[in-house]
Amino acid sequence: MSENDTSKPSRRAFLSGAATVGAGAIASSVAQAQTADPLITQPQEWAQGFGDGVDAAPYGLPSQYEGDVIRRNVEWLTADQISSINFTPIHALDGTITPQGCAFERHHSGAIDLSKSDYRLMINGLVDTPLVFTYEDLKRFPRENHVYFCECAANTGMEWAGAQLNGAQFTHGMIHNMEYTGVPLRLLLEEAGYDVAGKWVFVEGADASSNGRSIPMDKALDDVLVAFKANGEALRKEHGYPVRLVVPGWEGNMWVKWIRRIEVTNFPVESREETSKYTDTLENGVSRKWTWVMDAKSVVTSPSPQTPIKHGKGPLVITGLAWSGNGAIKRVDVSKDGGKTWEAARLAKPGEKMALTRFYLDTDWDGSEMLLQSRAMDETGYVQPTKTQLREVRGLNSIYHNNCIQTWWVRSNGEAENVEVS
Ligand code: MTE
Ligand code: CO
Repeated sequence: MSENDTSKPSRRAFLSGAATVGAGAIASSVAQAQTADPLITQPQEWAQGFGDGVDAAPYGLPSQYEGDVIRRNVEWLTADQISSINFTPIHALDGTITPQGCAFERHHSGAIDLSKSDYRLMINGLVDTPLVFTYEDLKRFPRENHVYFCECAANTGMEWAGAQLNGAQFTHGMIHNMEYTGVPLRLLLEEAGYDVAGKWVFVEGADASSNGRSIPMDKALDDVLVAFKANGEALRKEHGYPVRLVVPGWEGNMWVKWIRRIEVTNFPVESREETSKYTDTLENGVSRKWTWVMDAKSVVTSPSPQTPIKHGKGPLVITGLAWSGNGAIKRVDVSKDGGKTWEAARLAKPGEKMALTRFYLDTDWDGSEMLLQSRAMDETGYVQPTKTQLREVRGLNSIYHNNCIQTWWVRSNGEAENVEVS
């Protein structure tokens, strides 16, 4: 919008109007008469004494005013807490890095306590020398840092048949994005002298479920990490302390936590987690398997059902997240009319491979209803499909790998709801 356009308040006029109140200089065309705000004109209680000393919290927690930015679960979704899932509050976060403390958890047999001193990782099978590494051994290999998203294959899985869960946290919150520090799996396989006839590795966790998965050797040698830090600090217990596998761009189920064994094989094991689970049954009854890559996807995180518009019409920041397991996000479009017209969103920074990308659409809301959508495009040219397009290919029997375009119906009172458009 041009600075000379007086029909709508410009963002700058709006903001300068707000900032000058109380300073006596109300120059903006949109500044309204306001009474002096005691929060800015009066000395406040917190400025008249001392705050907490430096030892008040040896390990800091979020402000008490952020108590609602927490993982949440959907009670009817899983039978019990042991084999369960909760969701990242993506509606309330910004930027791209997910703090570990609110990053979704998925356990098949609960989060276990495993100390660094009891930790062991075995590499066996088609290798010259089967090896067992301690935690300290792993720390003596050259290590790397990478930011990657981890998305459960079941993310958005409840939305196949119709719009169901009311909130971006619940529809899209089985995802987190962290900076991992770890040793390339390739280096450990080389240390053991892997046989080039070994076309697969089978990876297992130390928990009762073991969550065993087969990974093609090409991927294992490419970018898989044996990670022990996330966002600079030790992995949290629920994310696999002390060591987990990081499988960039591939479904979260393969990111084995508390990893204890890597077997080099020349065949896939066809474990439970890759046959009866984590496969997608099509309309004709045939199941797709080895659907490892998480295709390009995006969602508007705000406004959304848990973050309605409370400020009325005028400047509005629409924001969300986009990601692709096939590489970097190149572009995100936003629609306010259910996909009839699209505007290019602003990427907060150029998309990074297999990592979350933050997008913004800075707009002026006229207070009318919106059918808000976002559509991601990645570096391969792949465009995120509509729900109708996805159903045409995949039918309605699937749970996993739902990467369709999400719609929020934002009403003129600012409240938003999960809906479908056809
Ligand atoms: N690894 C083990 N050992 N046990 C598990 O239950 N769950 C898997 C995977 N790795 C699981 C596991 C699933 S389904 C997902 S989506 C991711 O871990 C979730 O990782 P997070 O709990 O750190 O979010
Ligand atoms: Co999962």
